[in-house]
Amino acid sequence: MKNILLALSLFMTLISRGQDPFLKGQVHFPVGASLNPRLLENNPNYRARAISEFNSVTAENHMKMMLVHPEQNRFDFSKGDEIVNYAMANKKRLHGHTLVWHNQVPTWMKEFQGDSQAWEAMLKNHVQEVAKHYKGKVVGWDVVNESFLDEGSLRPSIWAEHIPDYIAKSFQLAHEADPDAILFYNDYGQDGKPKKMQAILDMVKDLKARNIPIHGLGLQMHINIDSKDEELQKVIEQSVATGLKIHFSELDIAVNPKNQADFVYDETAKKAQIAKFNLLFKTYQQIPSSQQYGITFWNVGDQDTWLRGYFKRPKEYPLLFDENYERKGAYDELLKSVKNVN
Ligand code: G3I
Repeated sequence: MKNILLALSLFMTLISRGQDPFLKGQVHFPVGASLNPRLLENNPNYRARAISEFNSVTAENHMKMMLVHPEQNRFDFSKGDEIVNYAMANKKRLHGHTLVWHNQVPTWMKEFQGDSQAWEAMLKNHVQEVAKHYKGKVVGWDVVNESFLDEGSLRPSIWAEHIPDYIAKSFQLAHEADPDAILFYNDYGQDGKPKKMQAILDMVKDLKARNIPIHGLGLQMHINIDSKDEELQKVIEQSVATGLKIHFSELDIAVNPKNQADFVYDETAKKAQIAKFNLLFKTYQQIPSSQQYGITFWNVGDQDTWLRGYFKRPKEYPLLFDENYERKGAYDELLKSVKNVN
């Protein structure tokens, strides 16, 4: 109760000073959430929370290959466009996710037949049609997503199998179609996986040496309360040292990583989660501002998380807002923590 009153009084003070009391007004870099058009349309609390707290948006699923390009000769931008309309109507920055991935690939692409030239033409058509459609609307793109395995080798995929140098080609194609877009390589789980991290750094070095346009690194940050602070800090440091823009692109912090059926989201778990949110935001605040592309949460409320849906882990609470889109303790603590640094 005391905490609620304190938070309320802080909000009232900020409003009376004409300051934006929500998360987006309290940090000096963009802060976003991945969103789902169905929830935006059907759930007023979800929509209101997304509008008030965040100034950036990523489509959680609806700009991916499977959804925008369901058949070889048919694109379907309808749901992605709902996210565009939301962004434009509410003056949010829009981040594109993702042009080339091994997952959520439509069946026709998986079954595509042809030599490497035909594959390249098919990839070109996909990347450029999508990038052109969203040109002038998205600020940046996750051009290539999750290409490396933990041990640092190139992940086997239809792209790796059929198109030599597909990463570089994808960046070139995206740049040709939308020369103003900030182009990212996006991946997860670099912390504690030095070979994976090194493969990403080597790729960046190689692309830069060949003048291939890469402008940013997305660190997804699907982490958990047992993730090690030193390992997280190390990969952030290594990423910053590339000079590229840095996006914590899919942040969530799992509290029940072993998916225990009898898990209780108790004070210990909450404290550990708060400490990780604070660590990530504080570390991000120390990045040179020219490299701060922003921090994006992977959806809004705990029940919207992919960990419960896609991953089927019902007892997960990885975000800042609860099932009713109320702020959790982690939200208040995060706000306090960023204010101490700003
Ligand atoms: O929309 C269909 C629905 O019509 C159908 O009835 C239902 C049955 O399974 O599936 C629904 O689609 C699901 C979709 O999410 C929308 O909810 C897919 O099955 C499901 O596979 C898909 O999961 C997404 C996952 O990527 C796919 O790999 C998650 O929502 C999404 O959060 C997740 O996001 C990825 C990032 O793109 C890349 N980084 C990792 C991150 C988490 O896995």
